[in-house]
Amino acid sequence: MQIASKLPDVGITIFTKMSKMANEYGAINLSQGFPDFPVDPQLIDLVHHYMKEGNNQYAPMPGHPVLREAIAAKTENCYGWRPNPDQNIMVTCGAIEAIMSTIAALINPGDEVIIMDPAYDAYEPIINLQGAQAVGVPLRATDYSIDWKLVWEAITEKTKMLIINSPHNPSGAILSKEDLEALEDIVDETGLLVLSDEVYEHIVFDGAEHQSVLRSESLRAHAIVVSSFGKTFHATGWRMGYLIAPEALMVEIRKVHQYNTFTIHTPTQLAIADYLKDESKYMGVSPMYQEKRDFFLDVMKESKFKPVPSHGTYFQLMNYSAISDQYDVDFAVWLTKEVGVAAIPMSVFYQDGTDNKVLRFCFAKGEETLSAAAEKLCAL
Ligand SMILES: Cc1ncc(COP(=O)(O)O)c(C=O)c1O
Repeated sequence: MQIASKLPDVGITIFTKMSKMANEYGAINLSQGFPDFPVDPQLIDLVHHYMKEGNNQYAPMPGHPVLREAIAAKTENCYGWRPNPDQNIMVTCGAIEAIMSTIAALINPGDEVIIMDPAYDAYEPIINLQGAQAVGVPLRATDYSIDWKLVWEAITEKTKMLIINSPHNPSGAILSKEDLEALEDIVDETGLLVLSDEVYEHIVFDGAEHQSVLRSESLRAHAIVVSSFGKTFHATGWRMGYLIAPEALMVEIRKVHQYNTFTIHTPTQLAIADYLKDESKYMGVSPMYQEKRDFFLDVMKESKFKPVPSHGTYFQLMNYSAISDQYDVDFAVWLTKEVGVAAIPMSVFYQDGTDNKVLRFCFAKGEETLSAAAEKLCAL
């Protein structure tokens, strides 16, 4: 059979590979970004309740009205602006479907989309699937901040969209108010679309405020903002996400969504709508993860790994150049097989595979798991 692959360069992701290797070698898995502690039993009971009550058929295509209403209220509570639940909000199958539906609806063959480099690994293949090109703008090597001069330089007449991600996976960097102002200048002058991936919006540390593009009137007129209940409520397997966008863009995005997933698990939508009524459920997420980050840094403080400050997400970067000068993928494989701890090599997030001798560790784990991993890592 002859198949002309649309993604000839895409193989099994490093996340799958490292998790598989962690299982094979019995290593502690700090590679893939998923929490290993339970979902709040109250939320599980709510899903069960709505199932038993008989809410088991298709919800409306853009999302259950009750959940869209709850998302509007949460957005107003967090960012001081209330999206219209009918026109601006759509519930999706995880944030990844929101990203896929947005790019498929709005990007055409020959377009260019600016992404930051390093970036979450899904953007580029999704852009390529549309016959478009991802143009990487390197983040500053020291702190993974955005050099806006380089963003300006990357804009051509083919550029349609700019993708930003704060808090940033893989680095844990966050955008500042000044970053949003710099982005406003670009959008005001060029009219570019902004896809703002804010899946870690509720995981921000040290008293910092999440700088959602929804805070800015001029940005939200051009922006598609993506979030994930999977991340916020550590239920990544439930595949619950949403997006917020101006009506004209939403009309197009819903056209893709309706022939893609059509609609999302009804009882879970109703359960989350109820759960969101208590703001402590999402406002309390940052302190919980900050404690984990601080615990991980504390148990690692005697090691030769050098932490790169993490301001958000549940990832901690560690530089290992005091331990080895191996290529980071080889070092990560060695660490999994010989030391018994799995992490993700940072080079996989770069378009050109830049190797700065840095690994990404996920600290969304119980303290026992983090301590056991640190014990092994401190022995190096
Ligand atoms: C930056 C970023 N965006 C999007 C996603 C996808 O989120 P979801 O699991 O809700 O599809 C992830 C998941 O790891 C992520 O890290």
